[in-house]
Parts: sequence; structure tokens; C-alpha cells
Amino acid sequence: MVGVRCCFKLLYAIVVMILLHMNNPCIGCSEREKQALLALKQGLMGDDSYRLLSWGREARNKDCCEWDGVYCSNQTGHVVKLDLGFQFLQGKISPKLIELQHLEYLDLSGNNFSRSQIPDFIGSLSNLRYLDLSNANFGGLIPYQLGNLRNLHYLDLKFQDYLSGSIYAKNLYWLPNLSRLKYLDLSVVNLSDVVGWLEAVIMLPKLTNLTLYGCNLPPPVISSVSLLNSSKSLVHVDLYKNNLNSSIFQWLPNLVYLDLSETKLSGRIPESIGQMSNLETIYLSMNSFEGVISETNFSKLSKLRILDLSSNSLVLNFSFDWVPPFQLRQIRLGSCKMGPYFPKWLRTQKSYDWLDISNAGISDTIPTWFGDLRNKVEYMDLSHNRLRGNLISELASYYLNVSWNQLEGPIPSIQSDVSILDLSNNKFSGSASFLCTSTTEESYLTYLDLSSNHVSGELPDCWIHFHKLVFLDLSNNSLSGKIPTTMGHLIRIGTLNLNNNRFVGELPSQLKNCINLTLVDVGENKLSGLIPEWLGENLLNLAIVILRSNQFYRSIPPQLCHLTQLQILDLSMNNISGTIPKCLNTWTTLAQKGHSSASIEHSNIFQWGGLFYDLPYDDEASLTWKGVRSKYKSILGLVKSIDLSSNMLSGEIPTEITYLVGLVSLNLSRNRLTGQIPSRIGNLQELDSLDLSRNQINGRIPISISWINRIGYLDLSQNNLSGKIPIGNQLQTIDFAYGGNPLLCGEPLPRTCSEEEKGPGQSVLAL
Ligand SMILES: *[C@@H]1O[C@H](CO)[C@@H](O)[C@H](O)[C@H]1NC(C)=O
Ligand SMILES: *[C@@H]1O[C@H](CO)[C@@H](O)[C@H](O)[C@H]1NC(C)=O
Ligand SMILES: *[C@@H]1O[C@H](CO)[C@@H](O)[C@H](O)[C@H]1NC(C)=O
Ligand SMILES: *[C@@H]1O[C@H](CO)[C@@H](O)[C@H](O)[C@H]1NC(C)=O
Ligand SMILES: *[C@@H]1O[C@H](CO)[C@@H](O)[C@H](O)[C@H]1NC(C)=O
Ligand SMILES: *[C@@H]1O[C@H](CO)[C@@H](O)[C@H](O)[C@H]1NC(C)=O
Ligand SMILES: *[C@@H]1O[C@H](CO)[C@@H](O)[C@H](O)[C@H]1NC(C)=O
Ligand SMILES: *[C@@H]1O[C@H](CO)[C@@H](O)[C@H](O)[C@H]1NC(C)=O
Ligand SMILES: *[C@@H]1O[C@H](CO)[C@@H](O)[C@H](O)[C@H]1NC(C)=O
Ligand SMILES: *[C@@H]1O[C@H](CO)[C@@H](O)[C@H](O)[C@H]1NC(C)=O
Ligand SMILES: *[C@@H]1O[C@H](CO)[C@@H](O)[C@H](O)[C@H]1NC(C)=O
Ligand SMILES: *[C@@H]1O[C@H](CO)[C@@H](O)[C@H](O)[C@H]1NC(C)=O
Repeated sequence: MVGVRCCFKLLYAIVVMILLHMNNPCIGCSEREKQALLALKQGLMGDDSYRLLSWGREARNKDCCEWDGVYCSNQTGHVVKLDLGFQFLQGKISPKLIELQHLEYLDLSGNNFSRSQIPDFIGSLSNLRYLDLSNANFGGLIPYQLGNLRNLHYLDLKFQDYLSGSIYAKNLYWLPNLSRLKYLDLSVVNLSDVVGWLEAVIMLPKLTNLTLYGCNLPPPVISSVSLLNSSKSLVHVDLYKNNLNSSIFQWLPNLVYLDLSETKLSGRIPESIGQMSNLETIYLSMNSFEGVISETNFSKLSKLRILDLSSNSLVLNFSFDWVPPFQLRQIRLGSCKMGPYFPKWLRTQKSYDWLDISNAGISDTIPTWFGDLRNKVEYMDLSHNRLRGNLISELASYYLNVSWNQLEGPIPSIQSDVSILDLSNNKFSGSASFLCTSTTEESYLTYLDLSSNHVSGELPDCWIHFHKLVFLDLSNNSLSGKIPTTMGHLIRIGTLNLNNNRFVGELPSQLKNCINLTLVDVGENKLSGLIPEWLGENLLNLAIVILRSNQFYRSIPPQLCHLTQLQILDLSMNNISGTIPKCLNTWTTLAQKGHSSASIEHSNIFQWGGLFYDLPYDDEASLTWKGVRSKYKSILGLVKSIDLSSNMLSGEIPTEITYLVGLVSLNLSRNRLTGQIPSRIGNLQELDSLDLSRNQINGRIPISISWINRIGYLDLSQNNLSGKIPIGNQLQTIDFAYGGNPLLCGEPLPRTCSEEEKGPGQSVLAL
């Protein structure tokens, strides 16, 4: 699945800081060093930092070797190590730092230097062996003076300002001077102009670990001469997210760890990779590699543990009885075509915890040996194949996605630590009772998608165990009975989709506790009762409310006007009567043009192995647009729509509706509305679709309607409209728009208007 890996890679781990205090049996630092440290403290305003507190304090004033984070040589007494990592300091580095001429180790990572440049005087600390300035919000050009640090073994400048890439280098001419460097990490430094980056890296004879993730690296230029001297010591190469080309393969050494995912590589995977017999980890995902890979290509890769070829255009052609030379821990082969049979070689892999064989062209029954995996697969994606058969064992993966297959039979019980479960678009049947098999334990489930299956019967009333649930989609099944009241315990839920089932009764008032709901879709059921007032009183985050095609009755409660975030309201096909509330101009989002993003994204944070991850998802909704019903997901954020059609609404269309200038679709058709079309209807400049048909609306069509440039669908038919149809834009091309209004005249209708019918409405001033 595209995108998952970056999330897993990037998201935050909780930094646990163990503050070690070591006692140095020490001769004592010099006065100069002491003054330099105090100047350093002065420049760094984080006086509340735990570590800096001890600096210069009375009791310990004498010997700066006693200060926290300061370490002295036990032979010479000089300061050799300064460890100020993740002290959340802010400010400037004092130039007095260079008085610490014996410094070998400097860690200033995880502080905030407000995008200032890395000071060039750091290049004067000629004894430095270890320099970590990562995550410290440095900006600007990396100073070439770092090239003076000839003793440096370790240089880490990664992740300064992840989003803006505000730190950069124009060249790396200085890099080869660091001839002792073993470890280099410049991730997210903007190196887009550094054409010679590979030449510079090649000249570091001792380099073992190279990480240039997300650096905007241009395709490498390599001369054959420099290749001769190329470093043979590299074991770890991470070039994830750059703009490379296949020249990179001329250089790649016999690697242990190789990450070339999302690097715009194309063509065939070069044979040289199959020769890297030390390879343990290889990521080649999200490129445009193509061609056929056979088992011989893996014959030398016996040490392989992580294999990632996903999201390319590769075909894997392995013989049926292939026994691979490796034992993989992670198998990431999404979009690699390996069907039609279920890959039998997986049976030889004894202890993998990650399996992605989604969209692999497998059209087969899930073999029984697979359901019997002895070790727990923590991440399992089998989606988008044509897998048949039943799931037999208890569901235990933290992430399990079997959507878009043809699996059938009842759904097995779920272990309580499962977090993400996508079973949608299969043929699962039976009841939903599997949800409640572990009745006492708190469930870790945050995401549950069961949509488009054949699950039937009543929903069990055990939602009290699902405090963590953020997303629940049970739409398009055959569930019946009442919506359980314990759903009110879903305090984190953001998306609740029960569309197209057979639910009856009222919406349980307990749902008013679910204050984080942004999407409620209970459309196409047999629900009845009043539209609850608490929807508007309590669920103030609601953006999408779909009650379509039920049996709700009586009037629209004015409380719904409190939903300032409302973006889509679909109450169509109910028995709603009364008038349209005039207060609807309080719907702020609808009253604004534009949108913040094309999709409606939610974060979905879950816990896995003590760490927290986010697997964000986009909301989806089925909407009727221009008479056609379809699903919207990637562009749902662009849709601002009100659909009150097919009810028994009466009275006039409130003029306040013309404040909702963000509306893209307005459907009030098939009601009993009377009065005139608001004269300022033309304010709704974003309208793409307007349907007022089958009401009892009278009077003239306002001229302003001709100002709506975007209108692509207009239906005013079957009303009592009269007079001349205004001229403009598409108004004359939509010929079905006006039928059933005997008193209308002018184009595109055949009846021409009398002078009287042309009327005063032709003047703009009449607005
Ligand atoms: C001095 O430090 C070195 C390494 O830092 C250590 O190996 C050695 O045992 C220390 N000597 C004394 C006398 O503490
Ligand atoms: C870093 O400091 C600047 C002010 O100097 C402040 O605007 C910014 O928010 C800080 N960044 C972080 C991550 O704390
Ligand atoms: C690199 O080292 C050479 C001497 O070997 C020196 O002349 C040059 O100034 C150094 N470059 C940098 C940027 O430190
Ligand atoms: C990186 O630098 C190049 C040119 O210097 C610039 O065009 C590009 O926008 C920068 N990229 C980022 C992410 O800042
Ligand atoms: C890769 O890009 C470099 C720089 O543009 C170019 O010199 C080289 O020929 C390209 N290699 C391939 C295989 O396209
Ligand atoms: C290759 O290395 C040799 C010796 O280590 C050195 O003399 C020569 O200049 C280097 N060649 C290049 C192109 O760097
Ligand atoms: C260098 O890379 C190797 C192989 O991937 C890895 O085991 C090692 O931890 C890395 N070293 C550092 C300092 O990250
Ligand atoms: C895979 O093996 C075939 C036949 O042995 C060979 O032609 C092809 O180049 C190899 N591909 C790779 C990527 O090694
Ligand atoms: C797969 O391999 C078999 C024999 O190993 C060969 O006959 C067949 O043509 C290959 N299929 C593809 C698509 O390369
Ligand atoms: C499951 O897989 C499908 C198809 O590959 C994908 O669209 C969907 O987003 C995945 N579900 C989750 C929860 O990741
Ligand atoms: C509902 O599920 C059926 C299969 O059970 C599927 O064919 C249909 O496309 C689904 N409808 C929607 C709107 O997803
Ligand atoms: C509700 O959502 C907000 C923002 O999306 C989040 O900060 C808050 O933690 C959520 N509340 C619960 C109970 O999950």
C-alpha cells in the first residue's frame, strides 16, 4: 500500500531521555574552558534546561567537569565531550565554543536554533570525532568549513526543518576532506543543486553508513575514474525519496542495507543487485521498475531479511515448489504480479511479521496452511486480489487488510490488540457477533471497515469496549434491528457509516456523546422518528450528515444551524415537513468559497509495540450529483452540497440560502415549496448543480441566475414559473430545465414571449 511505509518510517517515537550523570575522577577543567561553557550557556536561553542548571552553580562551580553533560579527559582534564542533545535549548552558539579545543564529541541535536546557519567556527574544533547537529532547526547554507574536521568519524545533520527544507548545500567539495568519516546523514538537507554529490561521497574511503533521505538529489554523474577509487566499505545506503536514474547502479557497493524507494528509477532492476550476497535489507518500492523476476535472481541473496519491491510494475515468476535461500522478516510485494496461484513459497518462510501481497493478481483459494501461521504476522495486506474461501483462524494482525477479494463465510473473532481491520468488499456473511467475542477486554481497534459484504442480523450491543475506535464503516450490508445504544461509548469516533442496511427505530440519543464525529451516514435504512436536536447541539464537529432515504419525519430542527462546519447535508427521501430554517446562514463552511484540501483526511493514531503510528484515512461518501449517484473520496473536500429533495417541505426558499456562497450543489426538488426563487440566487457563484424541480415555485426566474458561470446542471421543471427565461451562459442549452411551467417563455422553449412577459425583470436594477 502506497504511503504506509513513509508513515511508519517518519512518525514519532517517544523519546525517552535517560539522564546519565557520570562522575569523572578528574583533574579539573581550565578556567578558559569554564568561561567558554558559561558563555555557551548564556547564548542558549533554555535556562530551564535540566542539564544547564548545574552549570556555574555555587556548589559545583569549581570544576566544570562536574557539570551535567560535560565530560573531561581523565588524563588531561580537558573537556572532551559535550552532550546537550534534546535539551530543548533555544538561541545562539557562542563563538567561545572554540576555546574547547580538545572537544572530540559534540551533540547539540534536538534543540532550536531558529533556522540560523550552522556556525562556521565549528570547523575550528579540529579534534572533533563526533558531531550531531540533527533535529536542531538550523537553516541556510551548510558552511564549507566543516571540511576542516579531519578527524570526524560521525556527522549527522538530518531533519533540520522537515517541511521547508530550509537548510541546503550548493556543493559538497569539502566533504572528501573528511577522510575518516564512517557515518554520514544529511537527510532532508536540500541537495538539489549538488550535481557532484556522488563523486564527493565516493571519495570517503571509510564510509560505512550513508543516509541521504529526501535530499532532492539529482541523478548521479560518475566518471569511471572515480569508480575505481570508490569506497568499498559501505554497508548502509539510504537514498529514499530522491530523483535518481539507473547510473546509481554502476556504483552501489556490496551493501547490507539498501534503500532506493521513491527515487524515480525505471527500467529493469539491474543484475548487480542479485550479486550482492551480503544484502539483508532492500527497499525498491514506489519506482517504475518493470520486467520479470525469477527465482534464479535470488539465488545469492541468502541473507535477505527485508524485501520490498512494492508499487512497481514487476512480475514475479517463481516455480511452484521454489524454496528460497532466505528467511524473510518483512515481505513487501504489493502490486508485484505473482498470480494466479497463491504463492506457495510463503510456506517456507517461518517467521515474518510483515506481509504485503496486495494487488498481486492472485486468484485462488487461501490455502489452509496459511491460516495456520504459527507466528503472528503483525502487518498483513492481502487486498485487491481474487482470494476465495474462508478466514479460519482468529484475526490477530495489528493491521489486516483483505479488502476487495471474494472471501466468504462468517468472520472469525478478533484479538483485542488488532488495530486496523479492513474486510470490506468481500462476501463475508453471518452475523456481526464476532465483534463481541472478547467481552471483557478493551479493544485496540481504531479502524474497522466491513462495508459491502453480506453481514446480517442485529449489531451486538458491546461497543463499550471500543473506546479507541475512530473509523467505523458497516455500510452496504444487511444489518437490521436498532442501532445499539452502547455506540455512545465510541468517544473518539470521527466517521460512522451505517449506510444501506436495514436498521430501524430512532437514532439513539447516546450518540450525542460522540462529539468527535465529523461524518455520520445512516442513509438508506428504515430509520424513523424526528431528526434529533442533539445532532446540532452536541456534535459540533459534524461536516457531513447523511440521513437520506429513511422515514424521518416532522421538521428540520433549527439546532442544525449550529453546525458551523457543515459541508454536506443530505436529508433527501424522508418524510420531512415544515419549512427550511432561515438560520442556515450560520453554516460558516458553506458560506465560504474554496476549501482547505481536496480530500477530508483524518489522522488515525494507533499503538504498536510501544510506539505510536498514524495511518491517516480519507472520508468517503456516496452522493447524488446531477442525477447520478457515485462515491466521492479523493475530492470529497471540494463538495459542498445540500440535498433536501423528495420530502414534504413547504413554504418559501429562505433568501438566507443565498449567503451559502460555497455551495456547489443545491437540490430542493420534489417538495411542496412555494413562493419565488430568491432574487440573489446568482450569489451562489460556485454552483455546479441546481435542482428546484417538482415544487410549486412561482414568479419569474431571477436574472441573477444567468451570472452563475459554472452551472452545468439546472432543473426548474414542473413548477409554476412564468415570464421570460433569462439569457446567458448555459441557460439556453439545458433544454429539459424548464418543462412543466406553462407560463415560461423564450429560448430554449418553443414559445416566444409577449412584450408583457419580457417584463421589468430584464433590468439588472430590478434586483
Ligand atoms: C580513563 O578513561 C578511559 C576511557 O575513557 C578508561 O578506559 C580508563 O579506564 C580511565 N582511567 C581511569 C584511571 O579512570
Ligand atoms: C524555534 O524558535 C522559534 C523562535 O526563535 C520559534 O518561532 C519556533 O516555533 C521554535 N520551533 C520549535 C519547534 O519550537
Ligand atoms: C581540504 O583539504 C585541503 C588540503 O588537503 C585544503 O587545502 C582545503 O582547504 C580543504 N578544504 C576545505 C573546504 O576544508
Ligand atoms: C531546493 O533547492 C532548489 C534550488 O536551490 C529549489 O528550487 C527547491 O525549491 C528547494 N526545495 C525545497 C524543498 O526547498
Ligand atoms: C543519469 O543522469 C546523469 C545526469 O543527468 C546523466 O549524465 C546520465 O547519463 C544519466 N544516466 C542514465 C542511465 O540515464
Ligand atoms: C585514487 O586513490 C589513489 C591512492 O589511494 C590516489 O593516488 C588517486 O589520486 C586516487 N584517484 C582519484 C581519481 O581520486
Ligand atoms: C550502519 O548500518 C548498519 C547496517 O544497516 C547498521 O546495523 C548500523 O546500526 C548503522 N550504524 C549506525 C551508527 O547507525
Ligand atoms: C534474473 O535472471 C535472469 C535469468 O537468469 C536474467 O536474465 C535477469 O537479468 C536477472 N534479473 C535480475 C534483476 O537480476
Ligand atoms: C515463467 O517461468 C517459466 C519457466 O521457468 C517460463 O516458461 C515462463 O515463460 C515464465 N513466464 C514469464 C511471464 O516470464
Ligand atoms: C486496504 O486496501 C485497499 C486496497 O488496496 C486500500 O484502498 C485501503 O485503503 C486499505 N485499507 C486500509 C485501512 O489501509
Ligand atoms: C454494495 O455491495 C455489493 C456487493 O455486495 C456491490 O456489488 C456494490 O457495488 C456495493 N455498493 C456500493 C455503493 O458500494
Ligand atoms: C477529537 O479530535 C481532536 C482533533 O481532531 C483531538 O485532538 C481529540 O483528541 C479527539 N478527542 C478524542 C476523545 O479522541
